[in-house]
Amino acid sequence: MEHRLHDPFGRAIEYVRLSVTDRCDLRCFYCMPQGFHDFEAPDHWLTFDEIERVLAAFARLGTRRVRITGGEPLVRHGLPELAARLVRIPGIEDLSLSTNATRLARHAEALRAGGVSRINVSLDSLRPERFREITGGKLEKVIDGLLAAKAAGFSPIKINMVAMREVNDDEFEEMVEFCLEHDFTLRFIETMPMGDTGRAAGDHFLDLREVKTRLERRFELIPGVMPGGGPARYVQVAGSELRIGFITPISQHFCETCNRVRLSVDGTLYMCLGQEHSYPLRDLLRAGISDAELEDHIIQAIALKPERHEFREKPEQVLRFMSMTGG
Ligand SMILES: C[S@@+](CC[C@H](N)C(=O)[O-])C[C@H]1O[C@@H](n2cnc3c(N)ncnc32)[C@H](O)[C@@H]1O
Ligand code: SF4
Repeated sequence: MEHRLHDPFGRAIEYVRLSVTDRCDLRCFYCMPQGFHDFEAPDHWLTFDEIERVLAAFARLGTRRVRITGGEPLVRHGLPELAARLVRIPGIEDLSLSTNATRLARHAEALRAGGVSRINVSLDSLRPERFREITGGKLEKVIDGLLAAKAAGFSPIKINMVAMREVNDDEFEEMVEFCLEHDFTLRFIETMPMGDTGRAAGDHFLDLREVKTRLERRFELIPGVMPGGGPARYVQVAGSELRIGFITPISQHFCETCNRVRLSVDGTLYMCLGQEHSYPLRDLLRAGISDAELEDHIIQAIALKPERHEFREKPEQVLRFMSMTGG
């Protein structure tokens, strides 16, 4: 299939992050405001049919990979069924899921059977009390979810840990040991100034080069594994299979390799996490446009993709917090 999605900077867009809900059963302090309830109205949510139609159009234009995210995707009723439908779209070769894992124990097998190939789980602390302070939830459920995903045969399972000074910066080595024990991949993420919550978390910002230097005191890290693909730069812990990735949107941005756009729950395409450039598709879909028109709209949307985010230069810029766009 010909690849027809190139942005104005020559980047091929072959990856869609699909947010199936802006709701969540946790309230990570850097992501969603405490007590927040101003969610998208259900009649604004793209239906499963609409999602499938948009992603099929992306696939005809050359997109190969989809990641389901949110909010917390597993709070959307019927998510495993949606996943199974998306896997069957001709051209989609890889379907993955980002989750907080609170409901993963219940759904891991159905997701695996439905064709989800890879799972990323957010986990910022292995200490129950601290986990509750960061997220408002129970660590136990997440660990159960992770073990269920492992038992269901997901591989790799990636742990995403937002590294934060004075929040969890005494736990990095522990998390490495945990991932060694369970054969998980570990990725550290820098806080991003998305919404007031993300900006406030900037008080705890930690440059991941520091984290890497610190880990090198305890572990031998071999550089340069798994280059390309996503935004993480990986090292491997010598004598093990463990890969550790560093996602550094602030200290070393990776926009020149950006290959993705985001489709939010209300049917808006966002071209960049850190910019406002967007293209609303929902009303067009509901007005009855043809498949060919839908493809044209997607091509026009990609033409709006900006060169890079400006999290450093304009940290006040993005009003949406992460769960509204789909992280
Ligand atoms: C918005 S969540 C959506 C999927 C799912 N609920 C989860 O937590 O994995 C996706 C990722 O965004 C990250 N995230 C949210 N707000 C962030 C911020 N302000 N800075 C950096 N990462 C953030 C979370 O840690 C998580 O790994
Ligand atoms: S990071 Fe994920 S789990 Fe945490 S509040 Fe945001 S959407 Fe929910």
